Amino acid sequence: MARRLDRLVLCSIAALLLGCLLFLKREATPAGGPLARQPFWASPGPGRSWCPPNHMAANASLALPSRHRLFLTYRHCRNFSVLLEPTGCAEDTFLLLAIKSQPGHIERRAAIRGTWGHAGGWTRGRRLKLVFLLGVAGPVPPAQLLAYESGQFDDILQWDFVEDFFNLTLKELHLQRWVAAACPHAHFMLKGDDDVFVHIPNVLEFLDGQDPAQDLLVGDVIRQALPNRNTKVKYFIPPSMYGARHYPPYAGGGGYVMSRATVRHLQAAVEEAELFPIDDVFVGMCLQKLGVSPTHHAGFKTFGIRQPLDPRDPCLFRGLLLVHRLSALEMWTMWALVTDEGLKCTAVLRPPV
Ligand SMILES: *[C@@H]1O[C@H](CO)[C@@H](O)[C@H](O)[C@H]1NC(C)=O
Ligand SMILES: *[C@@H]1O[C@H](CO)[C@@H](O)[C@H](O)[C@H]1NC(C)=O
Ligand SMILES: *[C@@H]1O[C@H](CO)[C@@H](O)[C@H](O)[C@H]1NC(C)=O
Repeated sequence: MARRLDRLVLCSIAALLLGCLLFLKREATPAGGPLARQPFWASPGPGRSWCPPNHMAANASLALPSRHRLFLTYRHCRNFSVLLEPTGCAEDTFLLLAIKSQPGHIERRAAIRGTWGHAGGWTRGRRLKLVFLLGVAGPVPPAQLLAYESGQFDDILQWDFVEDFFNLTLKELHLQRWVAAACPHAHFMLKGDDDVFVHIPNVLEFLDGQDPAQDLLVGDVIRQALPNRNTKVKYFIPPSMYGARHYPPYAGGGGYVMSRATVRHLQAAVEEAELFPIDDVFVGMCLQKLGVSPTHHAGFKTFGIRQPLDPRDPCLFRGLLLVHRLSALEMWTMWALVTDEGLKCTAVLRPPV
């Protein structure tokens, strides 16, 4: 009797364990292989744009890092709803400033609004429009705070996809759609990160000589870049995702400027292209299809200011168009220095065009 009871208990425990194992396995293995488990806010729910399954994506190679598998699983998902949206551009908007940000970067947005991003005085009578591009990034900051920020400043454009380095291409695609609908007349568009310093008067001076109806994409152009084949690096791209030896020429994603004509041409190209996880390379691929070559300008320092030049020299900033990367504090400081009328510069360095 006791023996039978023992066996019964053992059997029950074994059955329970097996059940648990199966349950856990199912939990940890969404369709298509063991992907990294997503945090709760990334899961589908009311109000969330939801897309998989796609059967081609389901066999995303198990040998790839989980972020790459995630990207491939969602690659076909291209329609995410708008969560927060600013009012559209005025008809006479000259320059649209489209700045890639993230929900948590409240200080960076405040710094940009308080410095080069605000229109006052610095714009030579041109109308500017500032817009921050956001995805969703979990419970902090709470949605109410973003809604408040949006109400206060009318410059938040947020979509319902998870904020991730590999989702920046989704930002590009959705930005293009928003511009087509809400800001089609802007003569030029500057797209950049929320840690760049933009010298607006220099950008405007450069654009004065340009025709918005002609193709133009100008920035820190990288040629013959090799895809990174090191799995440990953020920019790793396996040959299965990009087989050619070099990337097409592209402007560093820290910041570049486009004419209205190029924005319009890109809209169509981006809509047709399969998404590629690195957004600036993706734009380079679209440009290549369009037969538009990006123009290099030494005034765009998207890889920062290198030795022997001093990255803290306000006189240097006076000659540049755009500098990557500054913290919010550095942004305020540099702004104070660059706009200081008492600042004496022996020579303002003008990079060659
Ligand atoms: C996925 O499966 C399809 C058909 O089953 C196949 O043609 C394709 O090569 C596979 N893709 C990958 C990345 O293994
Ligand atoms: C996205 O929307 C477009 C048009 O609204 C539609 O043609 C397309 O099939 C949609 N794609 C997906 C993956 O839902
Ligand atoms: C991109 O966004 C989708 C939709 O929110 C998300 O499910 C996916 O995990 C994100 N991609 C990456 C690589 O994180």
